[in-house]
Order: sequence, then structure tokens, then C-alpha cells
Amino acid sequence: MELVSLFFVVTTSIFTLSLLNYSLKLVWWRHARLPLPPGTMGWPYIGETFQLYSQNPNTFFSSKVKKYGSIFKTHVLGCPCVMISSPEAAKLVLVSKAHLFKPTFPASKERMIGKQAIFFHEGDYHSKLRRLVLRSFMPDSIKNIVSDIDSIAINSLESWEGRTFITTFQEMKTYTINVALLSIFGKDEVSYRDELKKCYYTVENGYNSLPINLPGTLFHSAMKARKDLAKILATIISLRREMKTDHSDLLGSFMGDAEGLTDDQIADNVIGVIFAARDTTATVLTWILKYLAENPTVLQAVTEEQEAIMRSKEDRGGLIWADTKKMGVTTKVIQETMRVASILSFTFREAVEDVEFKGYLIPKGWKVLPLFRHIHHSPENFTDPHNFDPSRFEVAPKPNTFLPFGSGAHSCPGNELAKLEMLVIIHHLTTKYRWSMMGPQNGIQYGPFALPQNGLPIKISLK
Ligand code: HEM
Repeated sequence: MELVSLFFVVTTSIFTLSLLNYSLKLVWWRHARLPLPPGTMGWPYIGETFQLYSQNPNTFFSSKVKKYGSIFKTHVLGCPCVMISSPEAAKLVLVSKAHLFKPTFPASKERMIGKQAIFFHEGDYHSKLRRLVLRSFMPDSIKNIVSDIDSIAINSLESWEGRTFITTFQEMKTYTINVALLSIFGKDEVSYRDELKKCYYTVENGYNSLPINLPGTLFHSAMKARKDLAKILATIISLRREMKTDHSDLLGSFMGDAEGLTDDQIADNVIGVIFAARDTTATVLTWILKYLAENPTVLQAVTEEQEAIMRSKEDRGGLIWADTKKMGVTTKVIQETMRVASILSFTFREAVEDVEFKGYLIPKGWKVLPLFRHIHHSPENFTDPHNFDPSRFEVAPKPNTFLPFGSGAHSCPGNELAKLEMLVIIHHLTTKYRWSMMGPQNGIQYGPFALPQNGLPIKISLK
């Protein structure tokens, strides 16, 4: 009897192994026979990096799409890549088949932000961080900080008064870092803010520099400032532990006892959130000022909407959450700005295994780039795509065609806060100030976000 069972076990195992081997061969054979997407890989190592980064990325994308279709291969930043330019393919990579495409960043960026930050992870650790971040940035939480954001906006704009010219992007960055710090630390630990900002600015300075960690390089100073930042955060965390008080801000959410995050994990994620929140929102705000200055009818409509809100709050003072829900025209201006400016031209994923994708092979390790900018600027998705026309958002865009905050498990958890802080500052800007651009402003810098040339120098005066 025992011999019979042994025979049965052995034959079943042999059969299963052969079947597995056969299936693996079949998968390998199918993949080996699949063609790579069409396209060119450019020069050895540098590939087509220069062609992509030296001009409006749309010129690169459009000429490739015209020649090769909506999926094509190329080689940028030292990596073989597949670029995908249709809304459906973007959904596959970011949502339906997201398990096959992991987020990917250069190792130097990971080191600088901190390896344990949300962007670099998947699975349980990522879901936990996302829950904690969303808990602090959902409408129910951020509606409690509207009046603080209101004060930050008023103070920022007052600091612009009387100056001969303003570099919009720089000033917006000051506004957005202050809002980011408010959302992370609430109104506490104010005495550490200046020191935190000083270290953060040094980190930011070295972020896009060559990753050479030798004394004297920007990268080296940034890595040093990164360590100092972690020390300041460790001090704040231990102070909060001693005080044993509850906080409803992001740091409070990360420090919840049940969450079990280490101090290093908290520090990496606090720094990560500042990175994600600051330049993105400041860049969109810079574009908004440009588009409003260039489109007087739209500016008039926004101003009328905001003046009506200002009149309605005369007896009670500052803005409240309900006011921001009455800003329909302004909201469409923000949406249209994010579409036209498409500050994040694309994002990066990496194939975790050989993937069959729309009849092509994407080899394991290759980068996959959904082209947000191309999708936003395609006439198939938006009529007259190069026209700035906020009224187009009176009708909801077709699915997967409007992705300023990405899509899927890594989509932007800060989008509600970003929209709120933009609405608040536009309210004060349009009701109290006039601004004009200093000279013609047609140039765009792409590094890394698409930004008006020189950060949009403007003149501003009180109404
Ligand atoms: C207008 C401003 C903003 C834009 C356009 C923007 C855009 C994006 C996009 C496209 C992604 C997804 C990237 C990808 O899939 O690879 C993302 C992720 C993220 N954003 Fe934003 N963002 C903005 C503001 C903010 C703010 C204000 C915060 C925080 C307060 C924030 C926090 C994050 C975080 C933590 C992630 C990573 C999420 C994850 O990996 O799960 N962002 N953002």
C-alpha cells in the first residue's frame, strides 16, 4: 500500500514539474517570439536623452507617435524604455496591470529622499503609508486648516507688495512650503521651522545635481543637510512623545502608536511629502498666473466669482471650506492649467518580469513611461488642445484622458490639499491685486517640471 502511495506521489510530482517546465518554456517561447515595440535606441548609453530633454517633449513624442504608433521604444537616461501614449495603455500600466510595473527612481534620488519613503514601495508597507497620508489629506481633515492656509496666503501676498518685481515661482514655492509644513506639523514646533527650511533648501539644491558625493559638490552638501533634517525631525518626534499630546496633522498620523513606524521611516516620509507637495503646486500656480494674465475674459470671470465670495463673507472674515465649494469657475481654470501645462510630462515604471503588452514584448527591467503630456495634448482627447479654454471642463473628460495627479495605487494623495491651497491664494490674488508679466513670456523651462521661463517675473499692485 505504501509503495502504491509512493509511486503515486512520485508520478504526480514528475507530472506537475514537467507541466510547470512546459508552461515556463511556452511562456518563454511566446515571449521570445514577440517583437519589441518599434522605435530607435539612439546613441550607445546616452540613447535619445538629448532629443527628449532639449526641446518641448511634445515634439519628441509627436514625431515618434507619427512614425511608430502609440507604443514605441527608446533609450533615455541610460535605460531602455517603452513610451506609451494612449489613455487605455496608461490605464493598463498604472491601474489594471500595475502589479507588473513597479515605480522606479534613480538610486541617488532614493538615497536623498530616504529609501523608506512611500514612492519607492509597494505591497503592505505602501498601503499602510498611503492610508496614513490620505487620512491627513482627505477633505474631512483639510477642511479644518482652511483658515490657517488663508492666513498663509494673505501673508505671502502682503510680502509681495511694494517690490519692483516678483519671481512668481520663487514666491509660490515659499507659499507652498509653508502650507506643506502646516499640513505636516500643524501649528506646533514653529521654533524648528526655519532650521527645517534651511536644511530642506540645501537638499533641494543638490537634488538634480550630479550624484558625486565628494566634499565641495552640491550633492555632498545636500546629503549632509539631509542628515541634519533627519536629526531635527528626530528631536521633534521625541518632544511629541514626551508631551504625549494627540495631533491631527500628518506627523501625528505617522506617529500613531498602532502604526509602528520607526523614526527613520517617519523622517523619510515627511521629507518625501515636502518634496512631492512643494514644487508641483508652486509650478501649477505659476502657470495659473500666466494664463490668467494672457486671458482677460477668463480673469474677469474668476474675479467676479471670487468677489461674490468675498462679499458673502464680509460679516464673518476669513474663508471657510464651504466657500471653496462655490469656486466652480476657478476650479475649471486650475483643471485647464494642469491640462495645458502638464507639468509632469510623464512618470516612470519598470517591468518586473517579461510582459506581453499589446502584442509586443516589454523585457523585464525596461522602464515604461505613460506620457501624460501627450495624452493631455492629443486632439483625440481634447478638441483644440493648445487652446486655453477652462469651459471645456464643464463636461467631464473621457476616462483616463486627464491624469494630472496620475492614476491607480500611486496616484497623488495630496491632490485635495493642492487644489485647496491653489483656490485660497487665487481668491486673495484676484480680489485684491492686479499683476502683469514683465515682457513677453513665451519660453518654457523643462527641468524637471515644465515651468514658464525664469519662473515668470511679474509686477504686482494693489487694486
Ligand atoms: C498640483 C500639485 C501636484 C501635482 C500636479 C501632483 C502630481 C502627482 C502625481 C502625477 C503623482 C503620481 C506619480 C506616479 O504615479 O508616478 C503624485 C504622487 C504623490 N503626490 Fe502629488 N502632486 C501635487 C501635489 C501634491 C501635494 C500637495 C502632496 C502632499 C501634500 C503630494 C503628495 C504626493 C505623494 C506622497 C505621492 C506619492 C504617492 C504614492 O506613491 O503612493 N502631491 N503626485
